[in-house]
Amino acid sequence: MDPHAGTGRRFPPGFLWGAATAAHQVEGGNHWNDWWQYEQSGRLPFESGDACNHLVLYESDFDMARGMGHNCHRFSIEWSRIEPVEGEFRHEALEHYARVVAALHDRGLEPVVTLQHFTLPTWFAAGGGWERKDAADRFARYVRHVVERLGPSVTYWLTINEPTVYVLQAYINGAWPPMRCGAWVKAARVLRHLAKAHVAAFDAIKAQRPDAMVSFAHHALWMEPCNPQRRLDRLATRIRDYVYNGLFYWLIGASPAKAGSLDYVGLNYYTRCCVRFAGRGPTALLGRACRLAHHAHSGPRSDVDWEIYPRGLAGVLQKFRSLHLPLFVTENGLATEDDALRCRFIEDHVEVLAHAIDNGIDVLGYLHWSLMDNHEWDRGSAPHFGLAAVDRVSQERTPRRSASVLAQICRANSH
Ligand code: BGC
Repeated sequence: MDPHAGTGRRFPPGFLWGAATAAHQVEGGNHWNDWWQYEQSGRLPFESGDACNHLVLYESDFDMARGMGHNCHRFSIEWSRIEPVEGEFRHEALEHYARVVAALHDRGLEPVVTLQHFTLPTWFAAGGGWERKDAADRFARYVRHVVERLGPSVTYWLTINEPTVYVLQAYINGAWPPMRCGAWVKAARVLRHLAKAHVAAFDAIKAQRPDAMVSFAHHALWMEPCNPQRRLDRLATRIRDYVYNGLFYWLIGASPAKAGSLDYVGLNYYTRCCVRFAGRGPTALLGRACRLAHHAHSGPRSDVDWEIYPRGLAGVLQKFRSLHLPLFVTENGLATEDDALRCRFIEDHVEVLAHAIDNGIDVLGYLHWSLMDNHEWDRGSAPHFGLAAVDRVSQERTPRRSASVLAQICRANSH
């Protein structure tokens, strides 16, 4: 019996299948952003360098995606290429991304465009980044330039990638630029500004193209109490879930009663978080993510130690269906050297997705993270998330067997 034979469930016609990337992780040579600056000064442990040289190789990369049966592709536009100096917009950079979009259409790949994926132009970061009072206006001005050029050929937009992850890594954990540790007040301010920036970008896109589909990409962590019998664990879980998975929606005015500034819900799903009660102080109320391998949450883990938990995707889809908007899995994947594990991961998550759709949840598509191994932020190039391996010296791409497993699903539009 073929262990990869699915259950024969059909996906809706026109379902979008593909993979996602982000500019700084694949393009190479992003000299004008804050990450590059921190990498060069040694404040970050790894340099992105040429990354996957996707800036040059995008056409053959899209041939590869097409060969993997994809009909959709998510990529990000690097703000610092478009506006390397405040107020100076580079025509040539915009033309590059117009060619990228055209190359996708030529291959029958629906573009999903992210306008901001973690990196900031150095001039913007130097002026305080997302802490700046005028952050949303500056972002919206860049967005207007992009949309004026690309609006007619792009339907699906993601304004900002994972605002909560950004705030956590950059202002609480201190791992990403600007490397602030435990800066809760600034974190709250940045989150508010990111929400304002999303709304301003949403309005800018819709003014240009009213029928565009606009969202942000939310990092959806499935939260469960570490010990479901323990009332305080359950309470901490509810609070943490609200702050992590609910607050940003509230800030942009989206609720079950009104869509606010959203046309669909972009969800990046990777893992679950088991929450333990951690005390009563204002930040302790968020509980603590349990890292102990208890019987109840000791499932297989990826190379970056995230638990592999497909049922969490079911929970997340069920939770966000309450917004009464179409959902879109804009990232899902794992870092592993064991491609058989990736094959199983894809099978299991697609199975969950098929089941959710059968139960009436409206899902537009599924994008795997990532098309190829790339620069994994402060972890460098060691974690391998790709459907294709990349030799960082020769820049040769080698699709893995997991790419064929997903290709079979994409081509059949069934599992
Ligand atoms: C981010 C990607 C990142 C991936 C794996 C997502 O949260 O959007 O940029 O590479 O996770 O860590």
